[in-house]
Amino acid sequence: MDVNEKIKHIEQQIENAVNEVESSKSLFEVKMRFLGKTGEISELLKSMREVPPEERPTLGKVLNALRQKAEERFDAFEKKLKQLELKKKYAEEKIDVTIPGSCTPDGAYHPNTLIRNELVSIFAGMGFEIFEGPEIENDYYNFTALNTPKDHPARDMQDTFYLAEDLLLRTQTSAGQIRVMENKKPPIKILSPGKVYRSDDDATHSPMFSQMEGLVVDRGITLCDLKGMLDEFAKKIFGANVKTRLRPSYFPFTEPSVEVDVSCFECGGNGCRLCKGTGWIEVLGAGMVNRRVLEGCGIDPDEYTGFAFGMGIERIAMLKYGINNMKLLFEGDTRFLKQFKD
Ligand code: DAH
Repeated sequence: MDVNEKIKHIEQQIENAVNEVESSKSLFEVKMRFLGKTGEISELLKSMREVPPEERPTLGKVLNALRQKAEERFDAFEKKLKQLELKKKYAEEKIDVTIPGSCTPDGAYHPNTLIRNELVSIFAGMGFEIFEGPEIENDYYNFTALNTPKDHPARDMQDTFYLAEDLLLRTQTSAGQIRVMENKKPPIKILSPGKVYRSDDDATHSPMFSQMEGLVVDRGITLCDLKGMLDEFAKKIFGANVKTRLRPSYFPFTEPSVEVDVSCFECGGNGCRLCKGTGWIEVLGAGMVNRRVLEGCGIDPDEYTGFAFGMGIERIAMLKYGINNMKLLFEGDTRFLKQFKD
C-alpha cells in the first residue's frame, strides 16, 4: 500500500472507530490505538527512517497533518461526548418537585400500653418500684404461697392452664408478691404489671390478658392507707369527681379482702348503661395481706402489715375508652387502634 492509501485507510478506520465509541473511556482506548506510543500513526511516523532523506520533508508534512487531523477529530468528538454524558447525568438526577410527598402514617400506642404507662406513672409518683415476675410460674408462687393450697376451693376462681404437674401459666400477677417478699425486707412498695392466662373466653374475658399488681408492706400500714391511695389513683385515671368505695369480698391472700368500686364517671353516679343502673363500677380487688402470706415469706406479721391490690389492665382500658368487646384489644385492627393517641 502506498503512503497516501495508508493515510486514507487510517482516516477511514478512525472514522469507523469514533462512530462506535459510546463513552469517554472507550474514546481514550481508540485514541491510544492510533496516537499512543505504539499506535498506528506513531508507527507510521517511525517508518520515516526508512524513507530516502529527500522524501522525508514532504512525507513528514503529510503525516503530521494526519496526526493533527486525528487529534482534532478526537478532541471534537470528546467534547460532544462529554456534553452528551452531562446531559444524560442531569436527566437522571432530575427531581420532580411536583410529585406529592410520600408520608409515613403516625403510629399510636395500643390502648393497653397507654393504660399501663398511665398506671405506672401514677404509682411511680407515689414511690412504687416496678417488679416483673415470670409468666411461667410454679404452683407454689401462683397458689400455695398465696394461701391457696392444693385442695383450696378458691383455686376454682381461676381456670388454670397447667404446663406440667407443678408448672403453669400464671393466672395472676399476685405471684410476683411472693417473689418480692421472699427477697426483700420491708419497707416494700412495688408495682407488678404483666400478662396472665386463664382458660376463659367471651366478650369481657380473654385467655391472655394483663394485670397490674400493687403491694405495700411496712410497719403500721392500714386499710385507710389503701383507701387513700386508691382514691388518688381513681381520680387520676377516671376524673377528679370520682369517688371510691370498698365492698367486702374474699381472696385467700388478703384478710380482710375488698372489691373496689368507683362512682360511675359516665353518669356521675345517677345510674346508666355503663354502671348497669347502680351508679358504681367495679375496678379492682384488694385487701390487707393475709398474715399467713407474710409469715410464709419470713416477714413477722406482728411487726409488719401490708396491703395489696390487683387490677385488669384491659378492663380499665375498656371502661376508660368505652370499648365494649375485649377482642378489639387483641385483633390488631389499625382502624380501631389509630383512634388512640396519647
Ligand atoms: N389476683 C386477684 C385476681 O386475679 C386480684 C387481686 C385481688 C389481687 C386482691 C390482689 C388483691 O393483690 O389483694 O383476681
